[in-house]
Amino acid sequence: MAAAAMNMQTQSAKIRKDLRQTFRNKRLALSTAQQMKAGKQLVKQFQEHAVFQNAQNVALYLSFNGEINTQALIDHLWSLKRNVFVPILHPFCKGQLLFQAYTPNTKMRHNQLGILEPVLDVRYVCPLENLQLILTPLVAFDTSGNRLGMGGGFYDRTLVALQNKKHQATVAGLAHELQLTSTLPTETWDIPLPYILTSSKLYSFS
Ligand SMILES: Nc1ncnc2c1ncn2[C@@H]1O[C@H](COP(=O)(O)OP(=O)(O)OP(=O)(O)O)[C@@H](O)[C@H]1O
Ligand SMILES: [Mg+2]
Repeated sequence: MAAAAMNMQTQSAKIRKDLRQTFRNKRLALSTAQQMKAGKQLVKQFQEHAVFQNAQNVALYLSFNGEINTQALIDHLWSLKRNVFVPILHPFCKGQLLFQAYTPNTKMRHNQLGILEPVLDVRYVCPLENLQLILTPLVAFDTSGNRLGMGGGFYDRTLVALQNKKHQATVAGLAHELQLTSTLPTETWDIPLPYILTSSKLYSFS
């Protein structure tokens, strides 16, 4: 690669790294009470929008590092007898996620990123084409639906794999309102989101 192009790539990586830090700090500055409230309001928002209503198999994630608290939403989905799936780092396809059923009885472990995940049991892994709704975490989003994640490319890989499936899930990011910024720098592999749900509104970019 030419030195100038390499330099630009390094600069872009640095900008993305700094943005991640800034938005992580903003999330982490929320108090436990604010997080609890945001999690409850997220359920209200979820209930208000038709796009979320009919999904039987729902992939979401267990909140980590200040991410909007998803436990109230998980409880709501359980109460509706929906099937909830959460990500597991694939044991040998590096960078890929598997989605495994999550119930109050699921045996959990900490993965190498320090995030709780179900102990792998292939009987409970859901193929991507059987999910009707995928709710993704994010660090920041912009007014065009661009998404900055944790930096592992896990959801970018999942969303690109989803594009090749016959039955495609609805995809929405979950976020605090303070994770919104006007324009995020993007890379060629980034997949924008059609929806982002916060505790106060649904952003629709499609
Ligand atoms: N579809 C893909 N196939 C292979 N590598 C990918 C793909 N998408 C992203 N990557 C790689 O993953 C790395 C991190 O990507 P990026 O900075 O966009 O992460 P992110 O979107 O913040 O993370 P995440 O999706 O896990 O929340 C990059 O080095 C990128 O090359
Ligand atoms: Mg990305």
